[in-house]
Amino acid sequence: MVRRHLEDLPTFSLPTGYAVRGFQVGDAATWTRLVQAADLHQAVTADRHREVFGEDLETLRQRQLFLTAPGGEAVGTATAWYGSDGWERDWGRVHWVAIRPDHQGRGLSKPLLQAVLEQLRQLGHRRAYLITETVRWAALRLYLRFGFEPELRRAEDRSVWTDLLRAGLPVALPDCGSGRVR
Ligand SMILES: CC(C)(COP(=O)(O)OP(=O)(O)OC[C@H]1O[C@@H](n2cnc3c(N)ncnc32)[C@H](O)[C@@H]1OP(=O)(O)O)[C@@H](O)C(=O)NCCC(=O)NCCS
Repeated sequence: MVRRHLEDLPTFSLPTGYAVRGFQVGDAATWTRLVQAADLHQAVTADRHREVFGEDLETLRQRQLFLTAPGGEAVGTATAWYGSDGWERDWGRVHWVAIRPDHQGRGLSKPLLQAVLEQLRQLGHRRAYLITETVRWAALRLYLRFGFEPELRRAEDRSVWTDLLRAGLPVALPDCGSGRVR
């Protein structure tokens, strides 16, 4: 999915006592715990954080965010990463969004994603992309809410998104009018 600009971001306030902070030393383990708890669709090993994000502290401090609950415990994470695999430098990447299950469904992903997109803009990116999967219904709704659109690159992409639209996802497909499929 893509967001072709980082202007006019929706705003969501954090509930009292919640905050968003940047990566601190030791947070690779925090991240691993959070994504292991949240992500039911893939196994996440202890090495995954290093494999995906490397070990450059300054980069992590700038780009990896944690949502903290009252008391300071991290209950969510998302990363304002950069493009790879042919994406130009303009494109920032929203990477590994996760809210711990006991905090899901309370709207907390929205101020977190807002902070990530603002961070991408601060870091000089002008657009954002992300890669997700059709089983991640809550994530799809979240990204649509933030103005991300389907990126139809391969022939099968349209049929996948059409199925999601038919299943009730409020998505407007390019060249399909406003959310209606005949
Ligand atoms: C995706 C995720 C971060 C959303 O976090 P959350 O704080 O629970 O989501 P919110 O409460 O802010 O809701 C976001 C949207 O998802 C919808 N949603 C939340 N839970 C849902 C569920 N179980 N089923 C369907 N939609 C759901 C909400 O209604 C909202 O959409 P709306 O604004 O159109 O009403 C969280 O579900 C998660 O960590 N999932 C596992 C990891 C994952 O899939 N990450 C995304 C990788 S691309």
